Amino acid sequence: MKPDIGITENNTQAVAFELSKLLADEYVLVTKIKNAHWNVEGADFYDKHKFFETQFGQLDAFIDSIAERIRTLGHYAPGTMQAFLSLTQLTEKGFDKNDSNRFVKELLEDHESIIFRLRENIYRVASEFHDIGTSDFMTGLMESHEKMAWFLRSHLVNTKKPMGLLTDVKMEKSVSL
Ligand SMILES: [Fe+2]
Repeated sequence: MKPDIGITENNTQAVAFELSKLLADEYVLVTKIKNAHWNVEGADFYDKHKFFETQFGQLDAFIDSIAERIRTLGHYAPGTMQAFLSLTQLTEKGFDKNDSNRFVKELLEDHESIIFRLRENIYRVASEFHDIGTSDFMTGLMESHEKMAWFLRSHLVNTKKPMGLLTDVKMEKSVSL
């Protein structure tokens, strides 16, 4: 029986398709995080091994909630590797080294590309398909990805001077006065 929740069948179908592409991205990403967890090598092995474990736990929860959101809208969630590979926008790269830096960089790029797609869909799903619930759901998911991306980004060495320190701003202001 189809849900009667004030959204047309065409619109729930369009939203379910966007959610299916997102689900596929999350599925590929969780596989990549597992690869990092299992195969990372280097002096920081244990630290990164545990860090990647935390991240795949988070992704696993996202995957379940996205699939269940598709079902809530009255559609079936893709559930095969073949479907995920045909729907995903993410790619898998081969590398010679298993150092944590290369895993962190690649995972960060993937999170950022998911964030881009979510940001576009938050507006589209609300304005074009009138599904405020999914738009809100995607907003929460985007925030979680943004935080995970920050955690990854913070493992990379920043060669520029850190910006935005409050003490710096105060000093610059007092100099200009
Ligand atoms: Fe493990």
